[in-house]
Amino acid sequence: MNQVPFANTGVQLSQMCLGAMMFGSRCDEAEADRILGAALDGGINFIDTAAMYANGGTEEILGRILPGRREKLFITTKVHAGVDGETIRASIDGSLKRMQTDHVELYMIHWPQPQMDLHEIMHALNDVVVAGKARFVGFCNCPAWVFARCNRIAEANGWAPLVCNQVPYNLIERGIEVEILPQALAEKIAITTYRALVIGLLAGKYTAGQPLPANSRGETDPRVPVWLSKYGDGIERLKKFAAGHGVPPAHVATAWVCARPGVTAPIVGVSTLAQTLAAIEGFSFELSRAQADELASFFDTEVKEEAGGKFPELRRALDLGV
Ligand SMILES: NC(=O)c1ccc[n+]([C@@H]2O[C@H](COP(=O)([O-])OP(=O)(O)OC[C@H]3O[C@@H](n4cnc5c(N)ncnc54)[C@H](OP(=O)(O)O)[C@@H]3O)[C@@H](O)[C@H]2O)c1
Repeated sequence: MNQVPFANTGVQLSQMCLGAMMFGSRCDEAEADRILGAALDGGINFIDTAAMYANGGTEEILGRILPGRREKLFITTKVHAGVDGETIRASIDGSLKRMQTDHVELYMIHWPQPQMDLHEIMHALNDVVVAGKARFVGFCNCPAWVFARCNRIAEANGWAPLVCNQVPYNLIERGIEVEILPQALAEKIAITTYRALVIGLLAGKYTAGQPLPANSRGETDPRVPVWLSKYGDGIERLKKFAAGHGVPPAHVATAWVCARPGVTAPIVGVSTLAQTLAAIEGFSFELSRAQADELASFFDTEVKEEAGGKFPELRRALDLGV
């Protein structure tokens, strides 16, 4: 498993981050225990959870399966709900209690909210760091300009800066290429990405025109049939590409995310041990730039912008040196 730098913190992490969101919902505690064991055996030291997953149940499971493994892991968790200072300070205490640990490595705001007070957010996050309950702080799903504004406030007050933005990114959701990835490269922000497999669509789990497989996330997630009808052709081409290289489609979809400049680590969502082992194996599959571009052409999902076609060249340039 490759090791990658985590922003400019000096910390090195596995390129695969294990997503724990299914622990306690589609994956029981015994399977979660096996998944975590396999991940550690596979060289993974990076795990992502959140207070809201299984309404706290994911963190409770982690609390029971972490003993003896805790010190090997860089753990991310997120504020339960709300972005006011009181919630930010209280939510971390609930997370630490459930996970039976005295700190996490990374504590993040889960979602921006209308009317949020960035000064209050950054102040509360700094209090969490000063109290020793988190080493670093970050913000998920954060527009680039909000991220920059937060860090201006942090700098002016001598507070802990945001070091990581966690965002969806895959062959069909490519909005972060416009501002977030160029910002990350210029400012050395860690980018952890979720949904590399588009809830299993890019793993080839679903086929257009056929019933959704029983006991799959697609049965309850309304985005799956919508994306399947929209991108079914691209998914079939992705499957053929993968077959041509003798690997499962999930390897190709995740390798595409890894190949994109600015991405630190994809967070791999798994429901079973078998999916975990496959995902770990997939990290040894790499794509050339030309192969990555070929795959992107199957989907036509690059964000189109105005300005006479100049924006991709200028705004999205990854080497402006700013
Ligand atoms: N910050 C945020 O707002 C945010 C939001 C969402 C997620 N996340 C994080 O990102 C992680 C990943 O998100 P995600 O689970 O939505 O990712 P995803 O990659 O889009 O979907 C993972 C799902 O794909 C299916 N799958 C995985 N491997 C497979 C394989 N080899 N073959 C067939 N199907 C396979 C499984 O679904 P089945 O159970 O149906 O088999 C699995 O639950 C989460 O665990 C969480 O830590 C963060």
